[in-house]
Amino acid sequence: MKPLSELRAETPGCESRIHFNNAGAALMPKPVIDIQKKYLDLEAQLGGYEAADASKAEIEGFYTSMGELLGCGPHNIAFTSSATNAYARALSCIAFKPGDTILIANEDYISNQLAFLSMERRLGVRLLRADSLPEGGVDVDNMRALMDAHKPRLVSLTHVPTNTGLVQPVEEVGKLCRERNILYLVDGCQSAGQIPVDMKKIGCDFFSGTFRKFLRGPRGAGFLFISDNILNQDIWPLYVDMRGANWTDPNEFTLRKDGGRFEDWEFPYGLVLGSREAVRYALNVGIAEIEKRNVALCAKVRDGLLDLGLHILDKGKRQSSIITVNLPGKNPTEVLQQLRERKVNTSISYRGYAVIDYDAKGVTWGLRISPHYYNSEEEVSQLMQSLQQIL
Ligand SMILES: Cc1ncc(COP(=O)(O)O)c(C=O)c1O
Repeated sequence: MKPLSELRAETPGCESRIHFNNAGAALMPKPVIDIQKKYLDLEAQLGGYEAADASKAEIEGFYTSMGELLGCGPHNIAFTSSATNAYARALSCIAFKPGDTILIANEDYISNQLAFLSMERRLGVRLLRADSLPEGGVDVDNMRALMDAHKPRLVSLTHVPTNTGLVQPVEEVGKLCRERNILYLVDGCQSAGQIPVDMKKIGCDFFSGTFRKFLRGPRGAGFLFISDNILNQDIWPLYVDMRGANWTDPNEFTLRKDGGRFEDWEFPYGLVLGSREAVRYALNVGIAEIEKRNVALCAKVRDGLLDLGLHILDKGKRQSSIITVNLPGKNPTEVLQQLRERKVNTSISYRGYAVIDYDAKGVTWGLRISPHYYNSEEEVSQLMQSLQQIL
């Protein structure tokens, strides 16, 4: 890994903020910022469509870099506007029937839970949630039993949940799905850029994500991995548009062969290039190196919180770069504001974001601290000093 001083010099935001909100949106490095500004200028000079034509090769590079990040081909990738949008596109291509079951975990992301609850009401599908282990995370044996008892149409799992601090065993669950030929959709929004993610090892049909979090890319940009298994079948997103399909006869259309089948025609090309640069940057730093550094930084944060006498809410055999902590008697909005006044960025997770998990833990909110490799040990000390003052 490059020296920390270099990584920080390449991150303009480090000059003015102590940024522990990487699970919200990380600070972009300079090459990611520069390429977007440059592209905006190009659009202003040439015109939007003309700038895209002139940048064809660079735009293609997005798919190649994503393939490298996820261990798949460029043709397996679709650019989307967010992780949620990518997830919804994947869901929309499955022809659910009333009575179909969908199997997920308690810790899955709020918007995924909402999408399934909406589908229950509208389509008459049935949502099942596997048990959680006492030590945290999904109980894979219970998932297996539910798969065998209910033969779900879809299994979905959030790789790194937003506010439970753990990493779910997506590979083990993937193996179970493949053995039973069950569709498998993984939400990798918080894992991409934080830990290695390999589509072959996970063995999923779809993997959704976003660029602004641990990948340090721009806001308003997401992605979807689509397996060859899906692309080789006549499966398409419900609202396929003129990028994803060709209108061949008044009542006929043919599908595009690659991941573009899941994209919209209209694209924010500046964000595509910014995302490409973010992926290249992460690959250059090294995802395994990033994970190693984050584990060390998070251990320092957890030690500091325990020294302050605080209760860490996170569970799970394998922990992520998302740390949630309880501050009894404090007001969450005030804590967030007081930290911001000290130039420290964090975020608040409310019960409504994780109803099942927070009810089980008996809390209504938690302070979420999400370090990333470019944070320094000095910043961790400053965070602890700020928290001490606030307490
Ligand atoms: C696990 C997880 N999935 C999905 C999302 C949604 O991402 P987006 O806002 O890009 O749709 C988030 C956002 O915090 C998340 O943490």
